[in-house]
Amino acid sequence: MKIIYKRQTTMKVAQFSRIGFIMAAAGSAVGLGNIWKFPYMTGEYGGGAFVLVYLITITFVGFSVMVAEMLVGALGRLDTVGSFEKLAPPNQKGWKYAGFMGFNGLIIMTFYSVVIGWIFYYLFEIFSGLPIQTDQAKAAFDALVGEKAGIQIFWHTVAVIIVGYIVHKGIKGGIEKFNLILMPTLLLILFGMLAYAMTLDGFSKAWDFMFASDWSKINSEAIVRAVGHSFFTLSLGMGAIMTYAASLPKNASITKTAFIVTFMDTLIALVAGLVIYSFLFHEGAPAAQGPGLVFISLPVVLSNFGTLGTVLALLFFLALAFAGLTSAISLVEPVVQYLIDRFGWTRHKAVIFSSLLYWLVGIGALLSYTKAWGALFSIGGKPLFDILEYTTDSILLPLGGLLIAIFVGYILQKERVYAALEHEMGEKYFNVWRFSIRYIAPIALVFMMLNLMGILNI
Ligand code: TRP
Repeated sequence: MKIIYKRQTTMKVAQFSRIGFIMAAAGSAVGLGNIWKFPYMTGEYGGGAFVLVYLITITFVGFSVMVAEMLVGALGRLDTVGSFEKLAPPNQKGWKYAGFMGFNGLIIMTFYSVVIGWIFYYLFEIFSGLPIQTDQAKAAFDALVGEKAGIQIFWHTVAVIIVGYIVHKGIKGGIEKFNLILMPTLLLILFGMLAYAMTLDGFSKAWDFMFASDWSKINSEAIVRAVGHSFFTLSLGMGAIMTYAASLPKNASITKTAFIVTFMDTLIALVAGLVIYSFLFHEGAPAAQGPGLVFISLPVVLSNFGTLGTVLALLFFLALAFAGLTSAISLVEPVVQYLIDRFGWTRHKAVIFSSLLYWLVGIGALLSYTKAWGALFSIGGKPLFDILEYTTDSILLPLGGLLIAIFVGYILQKERVYAALEHEMGEKYFNVWRFSIRYIAPIALVFMMLNLMGILNI
């Protein structure tokens, strides 16, 4: 049987430049997960030990799965469904259904876009002054989420339109271009804030909180959440990175790119955590704040810094908005690419169709948190927002990751995988990587899913 050793170069889509691809993949990875979720989860689960589990998973599972996901895209060169179908052996074409993991992106977008909407709202609210007391800040956040449905719908719609606009411009003129501008700006803002945070005495406490591992605080839930989050934060398990990799420039190294993206993503999460906790501890505020951390606690803390605090808050929310937008476009692109590849739709039509879908469900998600409509948009007492988040975060993403690991570890011909990666990694590391993709990643993912479903309870 003839084996194709070279990466396919027939492409329907435009190619990224090498730096454009790195920025786009990093832009996908670095998102609300890093700056909003990671810091508050670290707080909720007690700091250092949680961070350590997260770092271990990123290193031993996340990075390997990212290489695998990029590989499927780079070899397949099509949308997610097409790539699985094309690469699967002739008698196993059913693998194409794994490609429908791309649709998880739209489910994630239903609530992701609502949160980006909150960020937009806060960006404007900052101009009318920061809240001075926690009660006041909490009341303002609760009022937004619980009562102001119209305002939320407005900002959610703004988010949908901006994301749709960028995706509609395509890989080169939209996605690459915006990432090349937004990502460096985001880095500049965050590292600028870090430099300032380092001058505060809260910094050393923040450092200890995040890096001193106190295992007495860790439990199985914390471990499972850390594993799940390492997938979410790296944008793995739904074909986002795969879709981008279909436009990978021919001479780019998958291994190197995956390494840079993983490294940047982790660094930014840690920096965001250090910055936020430095401010918090500087003012003597406690760590465990939950999802309201950046919307409630941070503004109050920053109000103590006077005008400087307002500037810092503005920069912080701007960074958050940029991070959210660059991730959002990677959540929409897989479906758009699928509709274009499969049905020959124009990009325009594909963007409008997918945007309308998640825009509509997103409205249901935000209404599920309001007092007036909450009951109507809840199932079994659980708000739609939480159901969507839980289903993607805890079930669909790990499932997608598992499918990718199995496909690359067991279904794709080893020679083909070897030919694509050996010259990048060398024989020894290739074997380590392959072991991780065949054994470590699947076991970690199955363990996590069983735990979440309450079947195991370790
Ligand atoms: N990684 C992004 C974050 O940290 C979210 C995200 C973007 C994502 N694309 C994804 C998550 C694909 C899972 C799959 O916020």
